Amino acid sequence: MKLEEFLKTKGTDEQLTRLIMLFSKQAANIKAGFLSARGAVDTQNVYGETQMALDKWADEILIAALRESKLVSWIATEEQPDIIEVEGAVNPFGITIDPLDGSSLIDVNLAVGTIVGIYPGHVLEPGNTMLGALYILYGPLTTLTYTTGSGVHEFVMGEDGNFTLMQENLTIPEGKIYAPGALRKDYLPYHKKFIEQLELEGYKLRFSGSFVADVHQILHKGGMFTYPAFAGNDTGKLRLLFEGTPMGKMVIEAGGAASNGKGNLLDIKPTAVSDRIPIYIGGKKEIALIESYTKDSGT
Ligand code: AHG
Ligand code: MN
Ligand code: MN
Repeated sequence: MKLEEFLKTKGTDEQLTRLIMLFSKQAANIKAGFLSARGAVDTQNVYGETQMALDKWADEILIAALRESKLVSWIATEEQPDIIEVEGAVNPFGITIDPLDGSSLIDVNLAVGTIVGIYPGHVLEPGNTMLGALYILYGPLTTLTYTTGSGVHEFVMGEDGNFTLMQENLTIPEGKIYAPGALRKDYLPYHKKFIEQLELEGYKLRFSGSFVADVHQILHKGGMFTYPAFAGNDTGKLRLLFEGTPMGKMVIEAGGAASNGKGNLLDIKPTAVSDRIPIYIGGKKEIALIESYTKDSGT
């Protein structure tokens, strides 16, 4: 079944359907940049303009499409310093976008993705107010995974750029994969204890450097992803709005959990679009374990 038909069958709000379709339509355009915008940073085009790196390229494609559609009032992206307000928007929706996540892997042709959070209004609100979230993964296949609060569903892009249903109602299984960011030498005591416990239980290491790809794998195979707070950095590296909440929402809707180590990631109200936060995303069992260690440590 095609994505648009599936959204209709599910009784998805019409404006939300249009928005999800808009992102699906941009996937092929972004992919085209993998050839044309590859390795083009700091060079000039024939017109003497500085050419774009792929994440800038993806950013501009998505912002242009959203502006033209007038489907959302607010656009926050990882590549823009300020939230964009769309004049004459037909919906009060706010959107957060990480246009290209895992961009350090582009030059080695590993999986990267686009992550989107959808809010009923302004985006500086806790993740639990989100209407939905989606991500597009550019791997050997291009897939789109979305939730609007009634299941997590996955689609694959065909040669014509349209998406077809691959898996309905994804649920995170039990599994023994761990994807730990940051350097081991900088682990804080409660985090060190957590990672050592997983290792003792035979969890296998899988960390690619692409958050979206790593969480996608956890969603399908179980286990957990973390980019924790570490020595000298109490927020970790990843961003609450662009990475944490949308992927957290996805995994929670699939029966898993997402935390900052102390409590639900989606309960946290951002103070600024650029907020960073420690992230633990995965199975309920693993997230409960880190929260118990954090609590015991009095952190
Ligand atoms: P982005 O490519 O959007 O800047 O995000 C990069 C992130 C994330 O995808 C990944 O989990 C993390 O950076 C990897 O960081 P390290 O290089 O520190 O492992
Ligand atoms: Mn990112
Ligand atoms: Mn990015």
